[in-house]
Amino acid sequence: SRPVRIAPSILSADFSKLGEEIRAIDAAGADYIHIDVMDGHFVPNITLGAPIVKALRPHTEKTFDTHLMISPVDPFLDDFAAAGCDIITIHPEAGPHSHRTVQHIKSLGKKAGIVLNPATPASTVDYLMDMVDLILVMSVNPGFGGQSFIMNQLDKIRELRAKIDASGREIDLQVDGGINFDTAPLAIEAGANVLVAGTATFVGGPEKYAENIRRLRGD
Ligand code: DX5
Ligand code: ZN
Repeated sequence: SRPVRIAPSILSADFSKLGEEIRAIDAAGADYIHIDVMDGHFVPNITLGAPIVKALRPHTEKTFDTHLMISPVDPFLDDFAAAGCDIITIHPEAGPHSHRTVQHIKSLGKKAGIVLNPATPASTVDYLMDMVDLILVMSVNPGFGGQSFIMNQLDKIRELRAKIDASGREIDLQVDGGINFDTAPLAIEAGANVLVAGTATFVGGPEKYAENIRRLRGD
């Protein structure tokens, strides 16, 4: 079976000491650092922007997996690339030309991800399969941590796993929202290889991070 990577979402970290929190989840075995960028317009919440990503960059060498929930998104891609993001993931609804947006991310030398909201069909990625490095299935409506996993997204994960295998390309299949010790095995079984987890990583405080990450991975 394929290796499972864990991407803690820093949305659930203590924002007053983000550098320390990132060093802690790095040491605890996080594979990617998932950074949720929200603008209060595309989603009903505001989090952080490129200056904070830049300030966090020296605290870890782990992959910065940046989930942009902002509209418009195109004018900010250069800033996020320069701030040190490794993967930049965009919502097709955040601009009129998702193909062009993905091209733009690739031209910056970064890995590009496309994210599908719960009501957005798997076929949205069909004509992007030759370019994307990551496909993210939202198993909650984006905007907040701590929501419940929407079970019918498991079908979409299976559908996307088949598309990825058929493509012959190395594309991460990531799931984000409501991942916990009960839902993680379901997402893995459906074909996901990267699990985003906010609440479930940070629950119990720093002395629990390593155990939480291990349990999510299924070790
Ligand atoms: C939601 C974000 C998620 C969120 C997940 O819009 O994209 O990354 O932090 O939080 P949990 O794991 O608590 O559902
Ligand atoms: Zn996210």
